Amino acid sequence: MKLIIVKDYGELGKKAAGLVADEVKSNPKVVLGLATGGTPVGMYRELIKLHQEESIDFSQASSFNLDEYVGLAATHPQSYRAYMQENLFDHINLPAGHTHVPTGDAADLQQECASYETAIREAGGIDIQVLGIGNNGHIGFNEPGSSVESTTRVVQLTESTIEANARYFASIEEVPTQAISMGIKTILGAKKVVLLASGETKAEAVRLMLEGEATADVPASLLQHHPDVTVIVDEAAASQLT
Ligand code: F6R
Repeated sequence: MKLIIVKDYGELGKKAAGLVADEVKSNPKVVLGLATGGTPVGMYRELIKLHQEESIDFSQASSFNLDEYVGLAATHPQSYRAYMQENLFDHINLPAGHTHVPTGDAADLQQECASYETAIREAGGIDIQVLGIGNNGHIGFNEPGSSVESTTRVVQLTESTIEANARYFASIEEVPTQAISMGIKTILGAKKVVLLASGETKAEAVRLMLEGEATADVPASLLQHHPDVTVIVDEAAASQLT
Protein backbone atom coordinates (compact mmCIF):
# COMPACT_ATOMS: atom_id res chain seq x y z
CA MET A 1 0.00 0.00 0.00
CA LYS A 2 1.28 3.45 -0.85
CA LEU A 3 1.26 5.85 2.10
CA ILE A 4 1.02 9.64 1.82
CA ILE A 5 1.22 11.68 5.03
CA VAL A 6 -0.08 15.25 4.83
CA LYS A 7 -0.10 17.96 7.46
CA ASP A 8 -3.76 18.29 8.33
CA TYR A 9 -7.39 17.83 7.30
CA GLY A 10 -7.25 20.68 4.76
CA GLU A 11 -4.28 19.15 2.95
CA LEU A 12 -5.94 15.72 3.06
CA GLY A 13 -8.96 17.04 1.19
CA LYS A 14 -6.80 18.74 -1.44
CA LYS A 15 -4.58 15.71 -2.03
CA ALA A 16 -7.54 13.32 -2.30
CA ALA A 17 -9.50 15.64 -4.60
CA GLY A 18 -6.45 15.92 -6.84
CA LEU A 19 -6.25 12.14 -7.21
CA VAL A 20 -9.95 11.82 -7.99
CA ALA A 21 -9.86 14.76 -10.43
CA ASP A 22 -6.92 13.14 -12.28
CA GLU A 23 -9.05 10.01 -12.77
CA VAL A 24 -11.97 12.06 -14.10
CA LYS A 25 -9.67 13.94 -16.48
CA SER A 26 -7.97 10.82 -17.84
CA ASN A 27 -11.23 8.86 -18.13
CA PRO A 28 -14.37 11.03 -18.49
CA LYS A 29 -16.55 7.90 -18.13
CA VAL A 30 -14.94 7.03 -14.80
CA VAL A 31 -16.98 5.01 -12.29
CA LEU A 32 -16.40 6.54 -8.86
CA GLY A 33 -16.89 4.66 -5.58
CA LEU A 34 -17.79 7.18 -2.88
CA ALA A 35 -17.90 7.33 0.91
CA THR A 36 -19.77 9.50 3.40
CA GLY A 37 -18.87 10.53 6.96
CA GLY A 38 -16.81 13.43 8.23
CA THR A 39 -13.55 12.52 6.52
CA PRO A 40 -14.38 13.09 2.80
CA VAL A 41 -16.30 16.36 3.29
CA GLY A 42 -13.13 18.40 2.66
CA MET A 43 -12.34 16.35 -0.45
CA TYR A 44 -15.84 16.97 -1.81
CA ARG A 45 -15.45 20.70 -1.12
CA GLU A 46 -12.22 20.70 -3.15
CA LEU A 47 -13.82 18.71 -5.99
CA ILE A 48 -16.64 21.25 -6.19
CA LYS A 49 -14.01 24.00 -6.38
CA LEU A 50 -12.18 22.13 -9.16
CA HIS A 51 -15.46 21.76 -11.04
CA GLN A 52 -16.27 25.47 -10.68
CA GLU A 53 -12.82 26.93 -11.21
CA GLU A 54 -11.12 24.44 -13.50
CA SER A 55 -14.17 23.00 -15.27
CA ILE A 56 -13.58 19.41 -14.16
CA ASP A 57 -16.39 17.72 -16.06
CA PHE A 58 -18.44 14.95 -14.43
CA SER A 59 -21.09 14.78 -17.17
CA GLN A 60 -20.09 11.30 -18.34
CA ALA A 61 -18.97 9.93 -14.97
CA SER A 62 -21.06 7.79 -12.64
CA SER A 63 -20.89 6.93 -8.96
CA PHE A 64 -21.72 4.19 -6.47
CA ASN A 65 -21.78 4.90 -2.75
CA LEU A 66 -20.51 2.37 -0.27
CA ASP A 67 -23.49 2.24 2.01
CA GLU A 68 -26.81 3.52 3.32
CA TYR A 69 -28.69 3.14 6.60
CA VAL A 70 -31.51 0.61 6.59
CA GLY A 71 -34.87 2.23 7.24
CA LEU A 72 -33.96 5.78 6.18
CA ALA A 73 -35.69 7.18 3.10
CA ALA A 74 -33.52 9.11 0.61
CA THR A 75 -35.23 12.30 1.84
CA HIS A 76 -34.27 11.72 5.50
CA PRO A 77 -31.72 14.42 6.42
CA GLN A 78 -29.35 11.83 7.93
CA SER A 79 -29.54 9.45 4.97
CA TYR A 80 -26.35 9.01 3.00
CA ARG A 81 -28.25 9.98 -0.16
CA ALA A 82 -29.08 13.35 1.46
CA TYR A 83 -25.44 13.73 2.55
CA MET A 84 -24.21 13.10 -1.00
CA GLN A 85 -26.68 15.56 -2.51
CA GLU A 86 -25.69 18.24 -0.01
CA ASN A 87 -21.92 17.69 -0.03
CA LEU A 88 -21.34 16.92 -3.70
CA PHE A 89 -24.06 16.00 -6.18
CA ASP A 90 -26.04 19.26 -5.97
CA HIS A 91 -22.88 21.24 -6.83
CA ILE A 92 -21.34 19.40 -9.79
CA ASN A 93 -22.59 18.25 -13.21
CA LEU A 94 -22.80 14.53 -12.44
CA PRO A 95 -26.21 13.58 -13.93
CA ALA A 96 -28.70 12.47 -11.25
CA GLY A 97 -29.35 9.22 -13.08
CA HIS A 98 -25.64 8.35 -12.92
CA THR A 99 -25.49 8.46 -9.10
CA HIS A 100 -26.19 5.34 -7.06
CA VAL A 101 -26.72 5.02 -3.32
CA PRO A 102 -28.37 1.86 -1.94
CA THR A 103 -32.08 2.35 -1.17
CA GLY A 104 -32.24 2.01 2.62
CA ASP A 105 -36.02 1.76 2.74
CA ALA A 106 -36.41 -0.73 -0.14
CA ALA A 107 -39.32 -3.12 0.41
CA ASP A 108 -37.08 -6.08 -0.44
CA LEU A 109 -33.63 -5.43 0.99
CA GLN A 110 -32.09 -8.68 -0.31
CA GLN A 111 -33.22 -7.79 -3.81
CA GLU A 112 -31.83 -4.26 -3.39
CA CYS A 113 -28.40 -5.66 -2.41
CA ALA A 114 -28.35 -8.08 -5.35
CA SER A 115 -29.34 -5.37 -7.84
CA TYR A 116 -26.68 -3.01 -6.46
CA GLU A 117 -23.97 -5.61 -7.15
CA THR A 118 -25.39 -6.17 -10.64
CA ALA A 119 -25.45 -2.42 -11.35
CA ILE A 120 -21.78 -2.08 -10.35
CA ARG A 121 -20.88 -4.99 -12.62
CA GLU A 122 -22.91 -3.64 -15.53
CA ALA A 123 -21.20 -0.25 -15.16
CA GLY A 124 -17.90 -2.06 -15.78
CA GLY A 125 -16.79 -2.08 -12.13
CA ILE A 126 -15.52 0.75 -9.94
CA ASP A 127 -12.44 2.58 -11.26
CA ILE A 128 -11.53 4.41 -8.07
CA GLN A 129 -13.03 3.70 -4.65
CA VAL A 130 -12.73 6.34 -1.92
CA LEU A 131 -12.83 4.98 1.63
CA GLY A 132 -12.75 6.30 5.17
CA ILE A 133 -11.90 4.04 8.09
CA GLY A 134 -13.85 3.40 11.29
CA ASN A 135 -12.21 3.64 14.73
CA ASN A 136 -12.60 -0.15 14.80
CA GLY A 137 -11.01 -0.59 11.37
CA HIS A 138 -14.25 -0.95 9.41
CA ILE A 139 -14.43 0.02 5.73
CA GLY A 140 -17.85 0.75 4.31
CA PHE A 141 -19.94 -0.81 7.07
CA ASN A 142 -17.92 -4.00 7.00
CA GLU A 143 -17.45 -4.41 10.71
CA PRO A 144 -14.74 -6.61 12.31
CA GLY A 145 -15.31 -10.25 11.35
CA SER A 146 -16.57 -9.43 7.82
CA SER A 147 -15.59 -12.06 5.29
CA VAL A 148 -13.19 -11.31 2.48
CA GLU A 149 -15.83 -12.94 0.25
CA SER A 150 -18.64 -10.59 1.34
CA THR A 151 -20.62 -8.66 -1.27
CA THR A 152 -23.35 -6.00 -0.87
CA ARG A 153 -25.59 -7.08 1.97
CA VAL A 154 -27.51 -5.98 5.06
CA VAL A 155 -25.15 -5.64 8.02
CA GLN A 156 -25.61 -5.08 11.73
CA LEU A 157 -23.74 -2.01 13.03
CA THR A 158 -21.55 -2.46 16.10
CA GLU A 159 -22.05 -0.44 19.29
CA SER A 160 -18.80 1.43 18.56
CA THR A 161 -20.05 2.51 15.11
CA ILE A 162 -23.47 3.49 16.46
CA GLU A 163 -21.77 5.61 19.14
CA ALA A 164 -19.40 7.20 16.60
CA ASN A 165 -22.32 8.11 14.30
CA ALA A 166 -24.66 9.34 17.06
CA ARG A 167 -23.17 12.82 16.62
CA TYR A 168 -25.26 13.27 13.48
CA PHE A 169 -28.56 12.31 15.15
CA ALA A 170 -30.65 13.97 17.88
CA SER A 171 -30.06 10.96 20.16
CA ILE A 172 -28.26 7.62 20.02
CA GLU A 173 -31.65 5.83 19.93
CA GLU A 174 -32.30 7.36 16.50
CA VAL A 175 -29.17 5.87 14.91
CA PRO A 176 -30.20 2.97 12.67
CA THR A 177 -28.75 -0.37 13.80
CA GLN A 178 -28.44 -1.84 10.31
CA ALA A 179 -27.08 -0.69 6.97
CA ILE A 180 -26.74 -1.90 3.41
CA SER A 181 -23.02 -2.02 2.65
CA MET A 182 -20.84 -3.06 -0.24
CA GLY A 183 -18.84 -6.08 0.89
CA ILE A 184 -15.10 -6.55 1.22
CA LYS A 185 -15.09 -8.44 -2.07
CA THR A 186 -16.95 -5.58 -3.76
CA ILE A 187 -14.40 -3.07 -2.46
CA LEU A 188 -11.42 -5.25 -3.40
CA GLY A 189 -12.94 -5.45 -6.90
CA ALA A 190 -12.32 -1.72 -7.49
CA LYS A 191 -9.40 -1.02 -9.82
CA LYS A 192 -7.91 1.59 -7.45
CA VAL A 193 -8.58 2.36 -3.79
CA VAL A 194 -7.88 5.61 -1.95
CA LEU A 195 -8.35 5.46 1.82
CA LEU A 196 -8.45 8.66 3.86
CA ALA A 197 -7.99 9.10 7.60
CA SER A 198 -7.76 12.21 9.74
CA GLY A 199 -7.26 12.77 13.45
CA GLU A 200 -5.85 10.94 16.42
CA THR A 201 -8.95 8.79 16.95
CA LYS A 202 -8.01 6.95 13.74
CA ALA A 203 -4.33 6.47 14.61
CA GLU A 204 -4.65 2.95 16.03
CA ALA A 205 -6.85 1.70 13.18
CA VAL A 206 -4.38 3.18 10.67
CA ARG A 207 -1.45 1.44 12.39
CA LEU A 208 -3.25 -1.93 12.44
CA MET A 209 -4.27 -1.54 8.79
CA LEU A 210 -0.74 -0.78 7.60
CA GLU A 211 1.50 -2.56 10.09
CA GLY A 212 -0.64 -5.40 11.39
CA GLU A 213 -1.44 -8.69 9.68
CA ALA A 214 -4.24 -8.86 7.13
CA THR A 215 -7.17 -10.08 9.23
CA ALA A 216 -10.96 -9.86 9.20
CA ASP A 217 -10.65 -8.50 12.78
CA VAL A 218 -9.43 -5.24 11.19
CA PRO A 219 -11.35 -5.12 7.88
CA ALA A 220 -9.18 -2.30 6.45
CA SER A 221 -6.11 -4.54 6.77
CA LEU A 222 -7.68 -6.78 4.09
CA LEU A 223 -6.77 -3.99 1.64
CA GLN A 224 -3.22 -5.39 1.88
CA HIS A 225 -4.53 -7.95 -0.65
CA HIS A 226 -5.28 -5.19 -3.20
CA PRO A 227 -2.57 -4.21 -5.73
CA ASP A 228 -3.36 -0.47 -5.99
CA VAL A 229 -4.18 1.20 -2.68
CA THR A 230 -3.16 4.74 -1.72
CA VAL A 231 -3.60 5.64 1.95
CA ILE A 232 -3.64 9.38 2.66
CA VAL A 233 -3.49 10.33 6.32
CA ASP A 234 -2.82 13.51 8.23
CA GLU A 235 -0.07 13.72 10.83
CA ALA A 236 -2.45 13.00 13.72
CA ALA A 237 -3.77 9.82 12.08
CA ALA A 238 -0.17 8.78 11.33
CA SER A 239 0.96 9.37 14.92
CA GLN A 240 1.10 5.67 15.89
CA LEU A 241 3.01 4.48 12.85
CA THR A 242 6.51 3.19 13.61
C1 F6R B 1 -19.11 5.91 5.11
C2 F6R B 1 -18.44 4.66 5.49
C3 F6R B 1 -17.67 4.52 6.77
C4 F6R B 1 -16.85 5.76 7.15
C5 F6R B 1 -16.15 5.54 8.48
C6 F6R B 1 -15.39 6.79 8.92
O1 F6R B 1 -19.73 5.78 3.86
O2 F6R B 1 -18.54 3.74 4.76
O3 F6R B 1 -16.83 3.40 6.68
O4 F6R B 1 -15.93 6.01 6.13
O5 F6R B 1 -17.07 5.20 9.46
O6 F6R B 1 -16.31 7.81 9.19
P1 F6R B 1 -15.85 9.29 9.48
O7 F6R B 1 -15.24 9.82 8.23
O8 F6R B 1 -17.11 10.03 9.86
O9 F6R B 1 -14.86 9.22 10.60
